[in-house]
Parts: sequence; structure tokens; C-alpha cells
Amino acid sequence: MTVNKQVLLASRPQGAVSTDNFRLVDVPLSQPGEGQLLVRHDYLSLDPYMRGRMDDAKNYVQNVAIDEVMVGAIAGEVIASNHARFKVGDKVIGAQGWQLYSLSDGRGLTRVDTTVAPLSYYLGVLGMPGLTAWIGLIDIGKAKAGETVVVSAASGAVGSVVGQLAKLRGCRVIGIAGGPAKCGYCVSELGFDACVDYKAGRLLEDLQAATPQGVDVYFDNVGGEILDAVLTRMNAHSRIPLCGTISQYDGAKVHGVRNFRSFLVNRIMLQGFIMSDYKSVWPQAIAELTQAVKEGKLKYRESVAEGLERAPQAFIGMLKGENFGKQVVKLT
Ligand SMILES: NC(=O)c1ccc[n+]([C@@H]2O[C@H](COP(=O)([O-])OP(=O)(O)OC[C@H]3O[C@@H](n4cnc5c(N)ncnc54)[C@H](OP(=O)(O)O)[C@@H]3O)[C@@H](O)[C@H]2O)c1
Repeated sequence: MTVNKQVLLASRPQGAVSTDNFRLVDVPLSQPGEGQLLVRHDYLSLDPYMRGRMDDAKNYVQNVAIDEVMVGAIAGEVIASNHARFKVGDKVIGAQGWQLYSLSDGRGLTRVDTTVAPLSYYLGVLGMPGLTAWIGLIDIGKAKAGETVVVSAASGAVGSVVGQLAKLRGCRVIGIAGGPAKCGYCVSELGFDACVDYKAGRLLEDLQAATPQGVDVYFDNVGGEILDAVLTRMNAHSRIPLCGTISQYDGAKVHGVRNFRSFLVNRIMLQGFIMSDYKSVWPQAIAELTQAVKEGKLKYRESVAEGLERAPQAFIGMLKGENFGKQVVKLT
């Protein structure tokens, strides 16, 4: 008998998440019934939103219950099927959670084409993070050629795509990232015009030097002190697509925005957004992202942890910035 392994939410974090908040269990694996299929999970995506799902505070979707399988997207292969639309060997993505296998009735599974890009890319540049980058930069931020775009968490899954899409549109692009290695990557590999290392201790000065024409679009992935610093550089009628506030996710002290007056003086438009609300633009975004990947115009980097049992530690590491590029877990 094949055994499925699952990672459950064992307890809610009190402050920063720890490995004690998770529990690895073995459960028997059933064969698919009529209209069902069985998926082997090859990659698990680890994403910052999962931290919010571990709490019981108000969220934009339901949080994970105690003893429930941790929420998460996977990329894998259909290994048995009694389903009309899926056959054995199909590569799929879906929100099947932190486990090695799942039974499905096909709902929420999407078939992907691994002749275009490797399977794991559909969890990153050609998946939810890539779509998020496109929506925030283009639909909300309305970035135009010649404008200055600043993006935080710049070397990460979303940020790296934001910066490269903005370069492709003729913008001047400044990243903000933690440490010289990530900043060097943004400039020399991804083609950003500059990158500010927020851990170097000169955030305001370095940001000022990197944005002599001010900032037209700030794609905010982190909130907190970095948002406050960028607010000092915003231009009149500039835009802030508010994508995430990762500096505040994991038990950090809440940072109240100090430079609030900048919104008034500069008539800034700030729009918080959740990518799942923008399904109407997904086809256009995916088409553009796929074309750019095919043409080698979008570079992509992953941090790969090995084995489901390492997922909790890799997740905790990602929240602290230990990932370098999109964090996934290789399961097979
Ligand atoms: N709104 C949506 O629909 C949507 C969808 C997807 C993602 N998001 C959000 O987008 C953001 C980026 O997600 P991602 O998947 O691309 O993650 P990621 O950037 O690949 O990984 C997270 C990164 O956040 C940075 N970080 C962690 N703590 C920080 C702090 N205190 N200050 C500044 N930076 C910090 C780290 O980079 P450094 O080493 O550079 O600090 C870390 O590598 C997250 O806030 C996430 O919640 C939103």
C-alpha cells in the first residue's frame, strides 16, 4: 500500500512561526473512484501568504484549521485517472496542499505544458507570483516607458518579475533587497538600473541617490519602514500597488506609516490588491509572461528545498529572506 505524507497545521504561531507549529503525518492513500484522479506532487510552492493562513485573524479567505493539511499550490503529474478530462501523464498545478499525493475530481486543477517551461515554473514566473507581478505593475501601477519603478523584495518570486517586466516596458527600475548578493543579482543578471540594499543601514540616502527623478510606481511587497522611506521619494500622481507587507507578517512589531502626508502632497494612488480578484486579465498576463520566458527575456531563479519534511524549515527561512528567488520544495 502506498502511503501519503502530509504536513498539518499543529498549532497557531504565537509571534514568529516555528517548526513546532507543523506536524508531519502518514495517511493511507486510496485509489481514485469514478470521476476521480490521483496526482503525484513533484513540487510544492512556499509562499508568504501561508503565514497569514496560520493565524485565526480576519483574512481575505478562510484560514487553515488546526489539524488540517497546510494550504499550498503544487505542480505534479496525474498517475491514475477515471476522469474524462485528465489522463495519466498529464502535468498539472492545483491548490492540493502540503502533501505528496492528492485525490481530485479535477476541480481547480490546471493542465500545464512542460515543453514551454519546466514544471516548477508554473508555481512561479508562469504561475501565481508572475500573474501578481503583471497585475500590480501594469493593471494597477500603470507603469509607462520613461517612468521610475521601485520594487521591494526585488530578487524574489514576484519582485524579480516586476522589475524585468518594467524594464521590458522601458522604465527605469530600482530594486530594494536584503544584502549585496541579492542586489548584485538584480542589477547584473536581471538588468535593473540599480538596487538598494536595505540592510546596509543607509536606506534613505541610498534610495535618494538611486531615484534622482523621484518614483512614479512603487510596487510594495514589504510595507513597514521601507514603505515609509519610499514615501519620501514619490512623485506627484504616482501609484503604489500594495502587493504585500511581509515585514509585518511574522510576529514583527506593527510599523505605523509616518510619512502619511506624502499621499496628500503627491496625490498618490495606493491600491491594495489580491491577484485572484483579477481573473479577467490572467489570460493576457500569462500570454505575455509565457512569450517573454520563451524568448529568454524573463530570467528566473529558484531556491529548492528537498523533501516534504523540510518544508516547514524552508518556509520559515523564506519569511526571513533566506530564499534567493522563488522558494519551492522538490518532493520526488
Ligand atoms: N497580493 C497578492 O495577490 C500577492 C500574491 C503573491 C505574493 N504577494 C506578496 O508579495 C510579496 C513577495 O512574495 P514572494 O512570493 O515574491 O516572496 P519572495 O520575495 O520570493 O520571498 C520573500 C522575501 O521577502 C523579503 N523580506 C522578508 N522579510 C522582510 C523584511 N522585514 N523587510 C523587507 N523584506 C523582507 C525577503 O527578501 P530580502 O532578503 O530581499 O529581504 C524574502 O526573500 C509578499 O509580501 C507576498 O505576501 C501578494
